[in-house]
Amino acid sequence: MAKTRVLTGITTTGTPHLGNYVGAIRPAIEASRQQENLSFYFLADYHALIKCQDPEQVHQSTLEIAATWLALGLDTDNVVFYRQSDIPEIPELTWLLTCQAAKGLMNRAHAYKAAVDSNREDGQDSDFGINMGLYSYPILMAADILMFNANKVPVGKDQIQHIEMARDIAARFNHHYGEHFVLPEAVVDEHVAVLQGLDGRKMSKSYGNTIPLFLGEKQLKKHINKIKTNLLEPGEPKDPDTSTVFQIWQAFASAEQTAEMRQAFADGIAWGEAKKQLFELVNAELGEARERYETLLANPALIEEKLQQGAAKARAYSQPMLEACRRAVGIRPLV
Ligand code: TRP
Repeated sequence: MAKTRVLTGITTTGTPHLGNYVGAIRPAIEASRQQENLSFYFLADYHALIKCQDPEQVHQSTLEIAATWLALGLDTDNVVFYRQSDIPEIPELTWLLTCQAAKGLMNRAHAYKAAVDSNREDGQDSDFGINMGLYSYPILMAADILMFNANKVPVGKDQIQHIEMARDIAARFNHHYGEHFVLPEAVVDEHVAVLQGLDGRKMSKSYGNTIPLFLGEKQLKKHINKIKTNLLEPGEPKDPDTSTVFQIWQAFASAEQTAEMRQAFADGIAWGEAKKQLFELVNAELGEARERYETLLANPALIEEKLQQGAAKARAYSQPMLEACRRAVGIRPLV
């Protein structure tokens, strides 16, 4: 039976944090070990350029994110792991799809609409600061997905609309030029924890409340100590269900350890002690990967080699796909 193709992209802006790990990276690495799937994971560096025009940051973030996935044990023999910009067929397919994508569809994209709304609120021209990359973002994303005939696309809720747009564009292309693309489905895992950050809001780079994934032990301890708690004293019972410390604990602990910590909260564990235990738990899960991460960061050539191998695997799919699409639209040799 044909394997289910699972594909997802990671935009290369910023440094991965515990929320990314729990919400996206860890489940993706687990899914990649399942033999019934064929997984495609890639660094979406073309997408990064839309939001980030600092070349050093795009470059550094690509290095860090690639090192993170490899250090955490992504099995590159079993998945196709590549950098978007190493696949020249992707921007070419993007153009073919752009010519099938309705402008009105792009007008409705949330990210673009939010930028327009915020301009209006500020009394600015509605196009202020909006580049064509932001406007066409969903078409590039459709090319990423359709190129590999992905069946399932694991994403956060904010990306569901983009997958629907990819389906819409695929259906139009298929209708006009014949069946070339599989219609992809978004997969939003409701069970995966959305981690809280230091201040109790969702952990997010834009709130500045993150715990970076591969901090050294000292720094990790320091960050965990900064997690906001209330003023209850040792011995006073604490409510696990409103506590960020407990919430992060749960994302790293076994069911048994979670039950034990729940009891410890009821018994009035001191905040300092709970945080100390949380540090030990997180550090135990990430400690070895952190060493591999440091080694990889010091050897970018190793990472580059993996990415080039991944690109070769990816292009075995993308070259024939693009060739078929070019022919379908009438771009082919004259004789
Ligand atoms: N836009 C996605 C995000 O910001 C990243 C992404 C780019 C992606 N291309 C993709 C995700 C294709 C899934 C499939 O999270």
